[in-house]
Order: sequence, then structure tokens, then C-alpha cells
Amino acid sequence: MSHVAHKLYISISSGRANQKSLPGMALKIIDHGTAEYHQMVKLRNEMLRKPLGLHFDDDELDREKNDLLIGAFEDGKILGCCLLTKVDDKTMRLRQMAVPNNLQGKGIGRALMVFAENLARDLGYKMLIMHARKTAVGFYQKLGYAIEGDEFVEVTIPHFEMVKKLN
Ligand SMILES: CC(C)(COP(=O)(O)OP(=O)(O)OC[C@H]1O[C@@H](n2cnc3c(N)ncnc32)[C@H](O)[C@@H]1OP(=O)(O)O)[C@@H](O)C(=O)NCCC(=O)NCCS
Repeated sequence: MSHVAHKLYISISSGRANQKSLPGMALKIIDHGTAEYHQMVKLRNEMLRKPLGLHFDDDELDREKNDLLIGAFEDGKILGCCLLTKVDDKTMRLRQMAVPNNLQGKGIGRALMVFAENLARDLGYKMLIMHARKTAVGFYQKLGYAIEGDEFVEVTIPHFEMVKKLN
């Protein structure tokens, strides 16, 4: 199966995650380097890096060619995003979860998480892990993630490792 066909299969088979949230919202896998990807990077920059005085470098973005890039869209406009990076044959790391300030609290983050979990499960992964910002721990706990280990600092702010077994 080609890379593109493989992604299409994943997108369709995980369509069951496309739940309520905003009625016109579509969840999908984004191809690296496309206009959708640039929207995603802009959103991540605004939400996750600029407030900390940080930015993405080209090498970091280039490495994402190997990741599963996920976006929520309405009328071609991005509403939220996250991505999955392979850790080993059983485990994926969820990263870069972001919903714009004015769209938070509408279920977009939850829909992205369910979509990402179904993708990982469809591909045979057994576990999702992440470095969760302390301020977002409650969000992940609602979705069944548990803290593992002690608080640590990453990108200048407190984080916890969180994990969830995919059933
Ligand atoms: C964290 C984030 C992705 C959540 O997205 P969202 O679309 O606002 O979340 P949802 O509306 O789907 O919320 C799902 C549930 O989690 C709760 N929730 C959302 N954010 C929360 C938080 N920071 N702490 C505790 N609970 C939270 C909601 O109240 C909702 O609860 P309910 O089902 O009982 O009503 C979003 O707030 C965000 O982008 N924050 C800034 C960037 C960030 O911190 N990203 C995470 C990096 S690890």
C-alpha cells in the first residue's frame, strides 16, 4: 500500500471518532508541507511557543515528516491539532495538542484525542504517552490518562508524563 493510500485507509477507518463538537468540523490527517500543515504550524506557534518566547526551527519541523499530523477543520480553517510520533512498536507519543483560545471548551480537544487514539489503535499500537503541561493535566485525566512519575520542566514550564493503555 502506498504512503498516501495507507493514510487514507487510516483516516476512513478512524472516522468513527468524528463526533459531535462543532457540526461542520472534520477531523483528518494532514500531509507535511501542505497549506493545511502551514496552518497547523501557525496555530502551534501561536498557542504553544510564542507565549513562552520560543519558536520552531526547520530541523524540528522537518523531522515531523515521519509523524501522523492531525487537524480539525471547518470550511478549510484549522480549529485544532495534535500529532503522533512513533516511540516503539507498541507505543506512540502524542504531541503538540492545541485549540485556539476562542474555540476552547467546545469539545474540539476531546474529538482530536479520540481520533488520535483510534488512529494509533488501528495501527496496532497499545499505548499512548505524552509530556503534558501541568495546566492541561485535568483535560487528559478526563480522557483516561494517568500521571506517571514526578513533575519536570520542559520548554520552560512544568510537565508530567501521562500514559493511557489503548484497549
Ligand atoms: C488543553 C486543550 C487542548 C483542551 O482543548 P479543548 O477543546 O478546550 O477541550 P474540550 O472542550 O474538548 O474539553 C474536554 C473536557 O476537558 C475539560 N478541560 C479542557 N481543558 C482543561 C484543562 N486545562 N484542565 C482541566 N480540564 C479541562 C473540559 O472542561 C471538558 O470537560 P467536560 O467533558 O466535563 O465538559 C486546550 O485548552 C488548549 O489548546 N490549551 C492550550 C495549549 C495546551 O496547553 N495544550 C496542551 C499541551 S500538553
